[in-house]
Amino acid sequence: MTILVSGATGFIGSAVTRHLLAAGHAVRAMSRSTAAALPKSIGDDVGRRALADGRLTFVQADVTRPETLPAAVQGVEAVLQAAQFTGAPVEDPKRGLTYAAVDRDGTLNLLGALALVYGAPTTGPSLARFPAGSPRFLYMSGITVSADATEPWNRAKWQAEEAIRGSGLDWTVVRSCWAYGPRDAALSRILGYSDYLPFVPIFGKGDGPLTPVFVEDVGRLFSLIIADAEESRDKTFRLGGPDETTLAGFIKLALEAMGRHRPVLRIPKPLGRVQGALMQHLPGRPLTPDAVDFVSQAGAVTEADRDHLAKHFPGFETTPLREGLASYLRGAR
Ligand SMILES: NC(=O)c1ccc[n+]([C@@H]2O[C@H](COP(=O)([O-])OP(=O)(O)OC[C@H]3O[C@@H](n4cnc5c(N)ncnc54)[C@H](OP(=O)(O)O)[C@@H]3O)[C@@H](O)[C@H]2O)c1
Repeated sequence: MTILVSGATGFIGSAVTRHLLAAGHAVRAMSRSTAAALPKSIGDDVGRRALADGRLTFVQADVTRPETLPAAVQGVEAVLQAAQFTGAPVEDPKRGLTYAAVDRDGTLNLLGALALVYGAPTTGPSLARFPAGSPRFLYMSGITVSADATEPWNRAKWQAEEAIRGSGLDWTVVRSCWAYGPRDAALSRILGYSDYLPFVPIFGKGDGPLTPVFVEDVGRLFSLIIADAEESRDKTFRLGGPDETTLAGFIKLALEAMGRHRPVLRIPKPLGRVQGALMQHLPGRPLTPDAVDFVSQAGAVTEADRDHLAKHFPGFETTPLREGLASYLRGAR
């Protein structure tokens, strides 16, 4: 099967790509710059072998530029949308770097390209009628997404999900908790403070429930979803790791895995938002008030979420938090 992975050079997309290639599929890796994508994605044996045998190919396309997408979706059996704008979660509307532009409109543009290439035009409200055998559409969503959540990331992802559900294609949405692993952005950035500070700062109390998931488990789940269209057709799965913690607890465990001990310094969220309001005017726009909200939010799966996933994928188990963290942080730095 050939799968177009949008976001293939990213943290999530590269893990999914690796698992799809390891399962014997072909991946067309989308990037805005194929030259840059190449070295990033072949950084392991699976990628190198797949590149050599022609199962890993690259397509230069941009989800915000609809004209680049029809060629990218041509001849694939499935599309995974896992693109994220550069600099997330710090939005920069002047540069088109927003959840609305990439998560929502990027998804609409991909659906539009699929309609153009595979769809039979209709006079009805849907984009197109898709004949049997049209590509499936998989989407990497977030655990906090719901119909009534109002934050920009939740609105954009909800609207993307709604467009996917109404597209007429077979679809699967994975609403994932915070994913961690080698080369992640969020946890690595926080842990990086321990290189030069005697404490690790976080915004807010850091006491809301979190069930972080190891990135390899995200990759494995998408690979199972691809392998079993029946069990995943038109379904939304909520994915989290097996252990419930908090932001402060997660950081403590990660530091322990590195053999470090640092207290967590809690910066009150209102103060963080003021800091964001000032820093959004600095060159490089390092922080915004919304980004403070994003990084301090909780997000956990429930027993019902786990049961739903287990019902459809009974063999799928997620990695214990200590084990996942130790696998790449032990002896790090
Ligand atoms: N990381 C998590 O913990 C987590 C948890 C839940 C959900 N998610 C969701 O998973 C998705 C991927 O997140 P991530 O952490 O993997 O992000 P990431 O590491 O920042 O990767 C971003 C990817 O998006 C691509 N991209 C950026 N702008 C693009 C555009 N205009 N057109 C096409 N591709 C574009 C980049 O490719 P190039 O730069 O090569 O073009 C890159 O491959 C996001 O939707 C995110 O919300 C992530």
